[in-house]
Amino acid sequence: MSDSNREPDGKLSWKPGKKDLLFLAIVATVVLTLVLGSSERKTKPVPDDATHRTVSSRAACMACHGKDGVRPQPKGHVQGGQCFQCHLQPKGWTGSSK
Ligand code: HEC
Ligand code: HEC
Repeated sequence: MSDSNREPDGKLSWKPGKKDLLFLAIVATVVLTLVLGSSERKTKPVPDDATHRTVSSRAACMACHGKDGVRPQPKGHVQGGQCFQCHLQPKGWTGSSK
């Protein structure tokens, strides 16, 4: 009879059991769902064309996207707000430089 297998301070090493693995799997699933879900909720980006690369004011956007514009916002669209908060700016956007 000897205690030579015990660690000097008597601690037992921790090994993950089935329940721990299940818990980790659930946590990973929740995190993944949140990450993927939030990216799916993104709206359509602002088109990267000559018109959209230069407009910088909300009023200018609304001249075309208001009720009587060439391309009205869909019904029930949020009123007000910063367009670029939800619609990604085009890559070559230069509106703010002036
Ligand atoms: C001179 C008119 C005009 C102005 C100014 C304008 N747009 Fe547009 N916009 C359009 C037209 C026309 C379309 C649809 C045709 C296209 O895809 O280019 C469009 C399309 C869009 C779309 C995508 C819609 C789709 O069908 O994919 C978004 C988002 C958008 N505009 C946002 C904006 C924002 C934000 C601004 C202001 C920073 C703005 N627009 C300024 C004319 C305009
Ligand atoms: C709070 C978020 C939010 C803000 C701020 C916002 N939008 Fe939108 N917009 C949306 C959503 C959501 C849709 C509909 C879903 C989609 O097609 O992307 C939409 C759709 C549109 C469309 C129609 C796209 C199509 O399919 O034809 C246009 C045009 C547009 N928005 C313009 C604007 C303009 C201009 C502004 C600024 C005055 C603006 N949006 C601000 C969320 C927003």
